[in-house]
Amino acid sequence: EARLFMNYVDPTQAAARKTGQIKLYGPAAFAGMRKAGALTAKCLDELVPIVRPGVLTSEIDDFVQTFAIAHDAIPATLMYRGYRHSTCTSINHVVCHGIPGDRQLKEGDIVNIDVTLIVDGWYGDSSRMYTAGAISRRAERLIDVTYEAMMRGIATVKPGATTGDIGHAIQSFVEPQQMSVVRDFCGHGLGRLFHDEPNIIHIGKPGDGVVLRPGMIFTIEPMINLGKPHVKILSDGWTAVTRDRSLSAQFEHSVGVTQDGVEIFTLSPGKLDKPPYNAV
Ligand code: MF3
Ligand code: CO
Ligand code: CO
Repeated sequence: EARLFMNYVDPTQAAARKTGQIKLYGPAAFAGMRKAGALTAKCLDELVPIVRPGVLTSEIDDFVQTFAIAHDAIPATLMYRGYRHSTCTSINHVVCHGIPGDRQLKEGDIVNIDVTLIVDGWYGDSSRMYTAGAISRRAERLIDVTYEAMMRGIATVKPGATTGDIGHAIQSFVEPQQMSVVRDFCGHGLGRLFHDEPNIIHIGKPGDGVVLRPGMIFTIEPMINLGKPHVKILSDGWTAVTRDRSLSAQFEHSVGVTQDGVEIFTLSPGKLDKPPYNAV
């Protein structure tokens, strides 16, 4: 795959649907994303004391829905393509899109909680890992590597870099540690749409893919497995699990390309970006 100079457009001139064009946003959009990202991050912060052994994933989902409504926001996943919940709660070998329900967290579980809040039409999309009580050393390592992989991907973002640079930074960090990068799901353009151009693939070669330009807004959300990268979708049509039932972790930030680098819209206001959240 060679370097792609896409068709970049002024978002005010673009259609309100996916057109294959990449939107380059201005200061007003960045201000909107800052607000949506901050609220999403605050919601993820407030989940920290709620996520513990015994809690139902439906209780986590209820909290997020109530939080959103109280802050004049809308959970983007609610009624999205037939999805009926305000979060995805992906436990242990669930890679992503775990459906909240009557599953109770038990000691040692790790869970990704993915929240997307729409504020004034702008989408803030972020997820973090949470732990129920004490977890295994392997799980701890997986979480650390996944967080670091996301941050290394984000660190490559600047005008002139490419989506392949992001993927390469993630893949070349993860694979030497005997972990794997999921291929079946990727990051995505974001703004006034939930899933827009371009796809942000979490593997790649330097210089390949789409060239980044100031004003682009997208997510970076690597899913990392302790075993093989392959996933399968359960019969509910949503839940993605590792085929080998190995543990999987994910973190996600929404970011924007600035004149000289990157802005992260979904940083934790409480410095609760990654567990252990009780460490002061
Ligand atoms: N928040 C997810 C993402 O990061 C998308 C979830 S879509 C759902 O893109 F329908 F599964 F909720
Ligand atoms: Co996303
Ligand atoms: Co998300």
